[in-house]
Amino acid sequence: MEEAIESSLKEWQKIEPPEEFVKKANMNDPDIYDMAEKDYERFWEGIAENIDWYSKWKSVLEWEPPHARWFIEGKLNASYNCLDRHIDSRGDKTAIIWEGEKGDIRKYTYRQLLDATSRFANSLKDMGVKKGDIVTIYLPMIPEAVIAMLACARIGAPHSVVFAGFSADALAQRIENSRSKFLITCDGYLRRGKEIPHKKRADEGVSRVDTVDKVIVVRHTGSDVPMSKQRDVWWHEVMDSASTGCDPEIMDSEDMLFLMYTSGTTGKPKGVVHTTGGYMVGTHITTNWVFDIKEDDIYWCTADVGWITGHSYIVYGPLSNGATILIYEGAPDYPERDRFWDIVERHKVTIFYTAPTAIRAFMRWGEDIPAKHDLSTLRLLGTVGEPINPRAWLWYYENIGNKRCPVVDTWWQTETGMIMITPLPGITPLKPGSATRPFPGIKAKVLDDEGNEVSQGHGGYLALTRPWPSMIRTVYKNEQRFIDTYWSKWDIDTYMSEDGARRDEDSYFWILGRVDDVIKVAGHRLGTMEIESTLVSHPEVAEAAVVGKKDEVKGEVIVAYVTLAERISESDNLMSDLVDHVADEIGPIARPAHIFFTDELPKTRSGKIMRRILKSIADGEDVGDITTLQNPEIVEELKRKVDESG
Ligand code: WT7
Repeated sequence: MEEAIESSLKEWQKIEPPEEFVKKANMNDPDIYDMAEKDYERFWEGIAENIDWYSKWKSVLEWEPPHARWFIEGKLNASYNCLDRHIDSRGDKTAIIWEGEKGDIRKYTYRQLLDATSRFANSLKDMGVKKGDIVTIYLPMIPEAVIAMLACARIGAPHSVVFAGFSADALAQRIENSRSKFLITCDGYLRRGKEIPHKKRADEGVSRVDTVDKVIVVRHTGSDVPMSKQRDVWWHEVMDSASTGCDPEIMDSEDMLFLMYTSGTTGKPKGVVHTTGGYMVGTHITTNWVFDIKEDDIYWCTADVGWITGHSYIVYGPLSNGATILIYEGAPDYPERDRFWDIVERHKVTIFYTAPTAIRAFMRWGEDIPAKHDLSTLRLLGTVGEPINPRAWLWYYENIGNKRCPVVDTWWQTETGMIMITPLPGITPLKPGSATRPFPGIKAKVLDDEGNEVSQGHGGYLALTRPWPSMIRTVYKNEQRFIDTYWSKWDIDTYMSEDGARRDEDSYFWILGRVDDVIKVAGHRLGTMEIESTLVSHPEVAEAAVVGKKDEVKGEVIVAYVTLAERISESDNLMSDLVDHVADEIGPIARPAHIFFTDELPKTRSGKIMRRILKSIADGEDVGDITTLQNPEIVEELKRKVDESG
């Protein structure tokens, strides 16, 4: 990693923003950074003017570390900001272009999206949803997911969107933690031409909790699904009978807008709480300046609405900017590997935001695939989710952007809510592989264990040393975990990102990846402990250790080392049983790529599993010092097993 970065710095010049781009960029004043630095509260106060408020804040910030409250006593509604306020000037403008995997297309104008949202908001109210009730949304990439989110926001019911690829169990866990009484789901959806029986999974999830009284089901594929008489209602039926027009609830700036569960070090996912005012201010302005959204842009973020990227940069950021967003239901290689470029060409996409893992897959498939398509409408490219290696960056820049389009490598997290470290495409010279510098008003540092800034060129922890509007407010029902995870490494006012980073001679940031027990598989965030506890819940497993193994396309893949209970000898299909078990319990994204059975795991004398060593073994790297192990002999044996597996 270090080496790759070193060479990239030497090899490649900075790429200056194209003159034409600079001239027209939404933000092209380099002084903006200094201005924000002079008084960051005043800076954010000015930015907050871009959002519509029912009444303005009394003060900008109350910072009692680690608790920040932004735009105190300001009143607003997120759905109003995404919909109503555009109606006069953009009522007939396309808000959503949706393309199904089969190629079917649906479009919504802003007026139609407002109408659908209002009707659905009224339906929720009719069903008894009250301000403050948490509504779980378990939907694939269909317009109803956006409508449901906005409808919740409209009536002040925080949503908790659960990624559709998650299992029944993962859904149940999230419903249980939020005590959500309402679930919105659908009959099924398509993935590579195959229907995923989504309602069945939702039903399983609901059966494992005792909170859900109402399930609203979108008819998407039209397949027959069992409907429970008391509990289940069809989306289209409630929509038909719902009244039109729904006054947005007047929300306090600090009222919860949504919950988003994400993985951390311990076994259970944590509910990241985001509130209304600061989140809208932060996502609105980053969308405007980083993606340079203009009136006639067609903006496509390929993330799923089930992740924070979808929340901030499919829904709230772009729609609050009045943008036209594209949503695609299916897989990038269906029916062929040019599906994305076919979509870009047909819909004349101008701004494209995706993950390094996708870029590396495209790279592997070859440049002749995008070359078959007219990609000349593109003017800006973005990447997010994991470090992008300079080679992939350049491939993207050359083969997708034709060396015309700036590439914005945006670093942020579920917890930060908005993009934190990023180029501004009209200002910042780019370096392939670097997220460049903090967004105006954001203060980031690279610190050592003691909290001292490390010198240029050296690695350390990426820390945020100043509050920002869209920051996590707490971990839902677990304030202690909030404090322990993010605010306890150094002083209580310094946020620990759990990422490693370093800065170069231009003070640019290079993100090195997670330093905790979180791994990133194809950009998806997974806790190794979560996977381990799932493995040990299998009756034949005694102990499990999970690590991320480097992978050329996915960034990392999951490797599990497993010891068996009572020395049951591994049965023929135990390996695939365990893989399926993990996929069933968490979701297909958590499927281990390799499982190695072993009699023992390498442990320290105090009994701690040495994951560092297991990771080196998986990566085929030098294991370093193993003299502190109680069972050093196991290392050679594991190395042999891994080697043999190829
Ligand atoms: C983790 C957060 C919010 C973005 C989507 C993922 C990694 C994210 C970058 C980037 C290097 C990145 C970090 C971070 N990450 N963007 N541009 N360069 N690493 O959100 O699931 O909360 O994951 O993704 O490791 O901590 P998330």
